[in-house]
Amino acid sequence: MSTASSPCSQLSAVDCHPIRDTYQALLHSPPDAVTLRRAEDFLETQLTHAERLDCDLPDEPYRLLEWMRAGAKRTTEAYAEYLRERKGGEPRRYFTGRAHSLYFVRAVAPTKLVDGAWLYGVLPHWHELHLKPLMQTYIEELGSGVAAQNHVVLYRRLLAEHGCDDLSGLSDAHYVQGTQQLALGYLAERYLPELIGYNLGYEQLPLHLLISTYELGELGIDPYYFQLHVTIDNAASGHAQRAVQALLDNLPVVGDRKQFMQRVGRGYRLNDLGLGSTAAIDEFDLQRELLSMFERKRQVAGRVHSDHCRIDGRTVNQWLGVPGRMLDFLSALQAKGWIRRNRDPRDSHFWQLIDGERAAMFGVFNPYERQLLHDWIAGEWLAEEGANIPPRTQPAVLQTAVGDFASETRALLAQLEDLPCDARTQRLIELMSPSLHHTPAGLLATRLFAASHR
Ligand SMILES: [Fe+2]
Ligand SMILES: [Fe+2]
Repeated sequence: MSTASSPCSQLSAVDCHPIRDTYQALLHSPPDAVTLRRAEDFLETQLTHAERLDCDLPDEPYRLLEWMRAGAKRTTEAYAEYLRERKGGEPRRYFTGRAHSLYFVRAVAPTKLVDGAWLYGVLPHWHELHLKPLMQTYIEELGSGVAAQNHVVLYRRLLAEHGCDDLSGLSDAHYVQGTQQLALGYLAERYLPELIGYNLGYEQLPLHLLISTYELGELGIDPYYFQLHVTIDNAASGHAQRAVQALLDNLPVVGDRKQFMQRVGRGYRLNDLGLGSTAAIDEFDLQRELLSMFERKRQVAGRVHSDHCRIDGRTVNQWLGVPGRMLDFLSALQAKGWIRRNRDPRDSHFWQLIDGERAAMFGVFNPYERQLLHDWIAGEWLAEEGANIPPRTQPAVLQTAVGDFASETRALLAQLEDLPCDARTQRLIELMSPSLHHTPAGLLATRLFAASHR
């Protein structure tokens, strides 16, 4: 993992998140000059790191299509082999259970929540033909302004559905990709070849996407967001093909082609920095996650438990009153027989206190937190019995906004009516920024922009 130079040597590692801070600052719309300078410093550092990595891009641009198709073929063959293995009885390759898969969904969230952001800076150049493929990709990432197809809306829904939307505890490594995406999006004027290279790398179909889509579905977690990217990024006609086209369309005619391709290569390799999907899957440690979840909960629990029940000589409030005791507390619960590991969690009294609408602690733990506890208690039983998959919930039917719920729409339309043509486009572009495009106003702006700038 690479990090930008650390501005916070005075702070403890827990408090110091320079990359996450830059990420969040870039999500203020529009980011101020100080933030943009920070973003540029960060991007320069990342590009220096990227330059030291191997690059598998062909030197000759005319070989790019062939390179892309060969890559896609290798991926689909490896996936066919994976499917054969699974049909032959091999266990899942990525996820040990639902908690593991939700951990992954949460760990990659900082990247997915700014999906497409690296392309934002091409919007003001909508009239330039050679940038059209990139602009089209951006609009498609935004679902052309339709909430049900906006990639960021879809991911936010996925996180919310499983109680994964609180991202506290994620390290700076988790924010590297998302920050790079935002930085490229806001600094496109100075980093266009790098942006084109990054886009080329990001839109190629990776094997991990196919496998995680398959295994999420198997575990009863709606894989639609991931499935969508299997189809939309395809090599024949999707974003991958368009990424190659964008590079070819932007090759300098009079300028230095070699230097352009070198810069494309630097941007391409940015994809390999930070914590990638497979690394996020590999780093999962169920017990560590469970303990840090309990620590977070402990801090907000206060003295809400009654003191009449003692576990191994201590009241629950005493157990929760001090940091670092959670592992001993869980051991004490096991010794008391309240947690019985490696069997169906429903046999554990502690689980019964948490699960179900009539449970004494109903609502204390969100679905992700419950899943961590469930899978930790179930242990080996999980592997033997299958993953205890709940039925998939149907997506909510979207209502058309009326009354106060449509006030944003009315306000925006009124605002646009008063503006001259250029200023109107400018306003729409502001609302299509990475931090706003998924809001009702941003979605409407995207629909209006897409209708008039295709
Ligand atoms: Fe996307
Ligand atoms: Fe894409």
